[in-house]
Amino acid sequence: MTSTTEFARKYGPWALVAGASDGVGATFAESLAARGVDVVLIARRAEVLNDVASGIAERHGVGTRVLALDLAQPQAAAQILEGVADLEIGMLVYCAGADPNFAPFLSNSIETAESMVQRNCVVPMQLCHQLAQPMVARGRGGIVIFGSGAGLAGGPNMVAYGASKAFDMVFAESLWAELHGEGVDVLGVILGKTNTPALRRLEHSRGQLSSEDAVPEGAAAVEDVVAEAIENLGNGPTLMAGEQMRAAAGFLGSLSRNEAVALISAASAGAMGAS
Ligand SMILES: NC(=O)c1ccc[n+]([C@@H]2O[C@H](COP(=O)([O-])OP(=O)(O)OC[C@H]3O[C@@H](n4cnc5c(N)ncnc54)[C@H](OP(=O)(O)O)[C@@H]3O)[C@@H](O)[C@H]2O)c1
Repeated sequence: MTSTTEFARKYGPWALVAGASDGVGATFAESLAARGVDVVLIARRAEVLNDVASGIAERHGVGTRVLALDLAQPQAAAQILEGVADLEIGMLVYCAGADPNFAPFLSNSIETAESMVQRNCVVPMQLCHQLAQPMVARGRGGIVIFGSGAGLAGGPNMVAYGASKAFDMVFAESLWAELHGEGVDVLGVILGKTNTPALRRLEHSRGQLSSEDAVPEGAAAVEDVVAEAIENLGNGPTLMAGEQMRAAAGFLGSLSRNEAVALISAASAGAMGAS
């Protein structure tokens, strides 16, 4: 266990957290701030983001900056880089990425799928390309990218989402292979069902949850998966977060690809909340 000062020296002074107004990102930002790292918070809802930022500043006395923007827009990465040009970013945490739809590929417009790829693949890749260069030059830093069990094998209702999460996992693994020898920790965190507002909204909209405040059955606590991720920053490239995710990944890995897809398809027919 590293001390707060050591942690901030390795991963600070600033961390950029994409998808920080709620869920995994807000909790991750809070945990970094508790370790003395200043945080740049990104999401679309400015008001919510400002509340998260002021709460973090009050509780931990760190610096905060808010960038309210849509990560699915083509100019998102350029806007972010401009917004942090005066800061030394020692860590990038890319959380935004859940699928609010869980619907067949052909029932949505192609723009919906393109936005998913933009937000989940193109923008994190652009940010890594720019922000990792100074990290390598400093010989320290960290990059965390959130993936999903949905990226381990294909299945219906998550065509673009699952594919984007497979990209995220392999992207993080490959980046780790290139950067961990340069002092930059890269970690792909693969989540299973996790109790966040995004999951609760999805399950409620599908009639699987009585209210948006109820706890989805079998969901991991967001604090637990974030704590596990922070504990394992230096143990990349990939962390299957939580016992259930590890068991599921182990089982899927024991199957052929075709068997795995058949299994996911059967589970999906039972209307699982893949978020
Ligand atoms: N929760 C689960 O069960 C689960 C399971 C497997 C994997 N994961 C992965 O874990 C990560 C975090 O998931 P999560 O459940 O916390 O939900 P999420 O919807 O990925 O994250 C919510 C945060 O992302 C922001 N966000 C979403 N779309 C955005 C956009 N286009 N532009 C800017 N900000 C955006 C939201 O803020 P605004 O609405 O204010 O923009 C919010 O702050 C995701 O990568 C997801 O794929 C989650």
